[in-house]
Amino acid sequence: MNRGLGAAKAAKQDEFYTQYLDIQKEVEAYLEFDPDTFRGKVVYCNCDDPLESNFFRYFAANFNKLGLKRLISTSYDGSPIAGQGEMFPEYSEGNGKRKKPKALAVILDQVKDEDGDGAVNIEDVKLFLKRNKAARIALKGDDTYGGGDFRSAECIAFLKEADIVVTNPPFSLFRQYVAQLVKHGKKFLIIGNTNSITYKEVFPLIKDNRLWLGCTNFNVGMFFEVPGDWKHFHHVCEETGRKIARVSTSCWYTNLDHGRRHHPLHLMTKADNLRFGKTLKGKDSYDRYDNYDAIEVSTYKEIPSDYDGVMGVPITFLDKYSPDQFEIVGTTESNDPTNTFRTRVYTSQECRDA
Ligand SMILES: C[S@@+](CC[C@H](N)C(=O)[O-])C[C@H]1O[C@@H](n2cnc3c(N)ncnc32)[C@H](O)[C@@H]1O
Repeated sequence: MNRGLGAAKAAKQDEFYTQYLDIQKEVEAYLEFDPDTFRGKVVYCNCDDPLESNFFRYFAANFNKLGLKRLISTSYDGSPIAGQGEMFPEYSEGNGKRKKPKALAVILDQVKDEDGDGAVNIEDVKLFLKRNKAARIALKGDDTYGGGDFRSAECIAFLKEADIVVTNPPFSLFRQYVAQLVKHGKKFLIIGNTNSITYKEVFPLIKDNRLWLGCTNFNVGMFFEVPGDWKHFHHVCEETGRKIARVSTSCWYTNLDHGRRHHPLHLMTKADNLRFGKTLKGKDSYDRYDNYDAIEVSTYKEIPSDYDGVMGVPITFLDKYSPDQFEIVGTTESNDPTNTFRTRVYTSQECRDA
């Protein structure tokens, strides 16, 4: 691919901004399971412009409710001003670009009633940041990575300090992003493309229960704010006037425990599925693979309750997966050499001829 076009495409793919309500809905689902999920923790939102990002806004506004110890948010030098929030309009050049510092970190160790109105909210955070310039740190980057790049030494130092990383990172760098979190042994709650599930850097983590899908049902897709100059978008938000695009293939990935993954699926027996199942009705038995020692189950609803063997299920099953009920043994992807249930390997020619 032409390198310039490739970079432009990647940049475009990366400028999706998460809506406040989506963050709130997801984070609060963890609190239902464990109200202390974030208590006493350092939360790091990287790839998040503290002056605009709803991640920063949510965690700053709920700093005390969540019981945070510290909130760190870092923006990336390459990010445009998306026009999402007006925390600090003075950083905008007015043309979608930002004034110096192009990348910065904001650190909050407390959120108090700065304006003395009796309530503690995002207005207090704005005031605090206006009064305390020291809470904003310009990021310079290093020899390899620019300011605010999640791979830069400055950002890795913040990462090391963090207990939980929460963000929507650039989709184009998702593999590297997850690898870095895993390398540093961090807890995380991040948004990614559902296509990433089968990545060789991601699937083994899912298989080993070191990463799973978040609480928001992933089949619905998500709506994101996109830059104002985008030609393709779904609708304009009435309240904010900002453009919104739908990404049907996006979901939350996490290693924070939540209640939904402990809800077992209620299933019918094999016999009942063969009598009533949408795709199985009228059949004598479940189909078997000829290259795996497994039955084929084409929808999670037809998983038989009285069968203990291996079955092939669609990837959408992961949204319903409870580790208390099932064990993931592998993928059918040809690049999965660990799948011991494979009984035969088709050559590329055989696949083409099929
Ligand atoms: C999908 S957007 C999400 C932005 C924000 N987290 C949100 O959800 O509103 C990803 C952001 O990461 C920025 N970004 C791209 N490459 C990056 C990098 N190497 N390091 C840090 N941030 C990067 C993009 O400019 C973009 O603003």
